[in-house]
Amino acid sequence: MTAPRVARTVEELALARAELSGRVAVVMTMGALHEGHLNLMREGRERSDSLLVTIFVNPLQFGPNEDFDRYPRSLAVDLDTCARAGVDLVFAPSVEAMYPPGEPIPWVSAGHLGTVLEGESRPGHFDGVVTVVVKLLRLTRPDLALFGQKDAQQLALIRRAVADHDLAVEIIGVPTVREPDGLAMSSRNRYLDPPGRQVARVLSRALMVGAHASPGGADAVLMAARSVLADTPEVAVDYLVLVDDATWEAPDSTTTDARLLVAGRIGATRLIDNVAVALGTRDSVG
Ligand code: PAJ
Repeated sequence: MTAPRVARTVEELALARAELSGRVAVVMTMGALHEGHLNLMREGRERSDSLLVTIFVNPLQFGPNEDFDRYPRSLAVDLDTCARAGVDLVFAPSVEAMYPPGEPIPWVSAGHLGTVLEGESRPGHFDGVVTVVVKLLRLTRPDLALFGQKDAQQLALIRRAVADHDLAVEIIGVPTVREPDGLAMSSRNRYLDPPGRQVARVLSRALMVGAHASPGGADAVLMAARSVLADTPEVAVDYLVLVDDATWEAPDSTTTDARLLVAGRIGATRLIDNVAVALGTRDSVG
């Protein structure tokens, strides 16, 4: 196990990046690394010659009343994790190193898709995400970049931003890693107290039950998922929606690949999850 090289400034990154050889994969994170992040790293390792991980809690993607200040930060432990995962280079800049003096502003717009679902609950969030992702892609110049399907809307927006900005990088979506009881792994899960943690499993359970109802069509999927959530009033549901996976609009009679998405709050902790749903596999389309 060799410790990865760590770059803390843009200049250090440029020097260290120049020494990486072959195909370079990047995994972008906000740290507090867990098995979901590790899975992205494994996938990146397999598909490349050099693996670069970024660790940066990006203030641009947090709203004024969100958890930027209390977001978990554990750089020393994260660097150990990166060493074990065979990471070659870690870019862990300070806010000042990423956004030199002055109030940082998002300069990439996430467009309409950035204003619905997560974007509606978190105004400005996705402009901040795509801005930092485009910036990190320019700085790290990878051949491929891996993102989790756990954040499906984020992944869709990143794919779009990369196409719009003609960035020559392959974007790879990696399936969601879950706890044994189905809860999607997330750095925010550590905010949950034991009762909250118990309650949180209802999110993934609702999605699974919904997905299993797919032979009955879109309405059946939503009804099945909704009934699971209704049994657990401790979860304040922000949204539960089914979208066409390609358009992110409501599914119509031609939709085969859909995605069921949920966001909910358990106390002060807001969690999101989603699953793919195969529609159109039923015998008769009504
Ligand atoms: P973060 O929440 O740290 O997630 C980093 C990457 O790990 C994202 O691509 C996310 O989708 C993926 N990920 C998180 N949990 C996962 C899970 N359970 N299974 C699979 N993948 C998972 O997402 C961000 O950071 C930020 O918005 C970022 C893209 C780094 C920009 O700041």
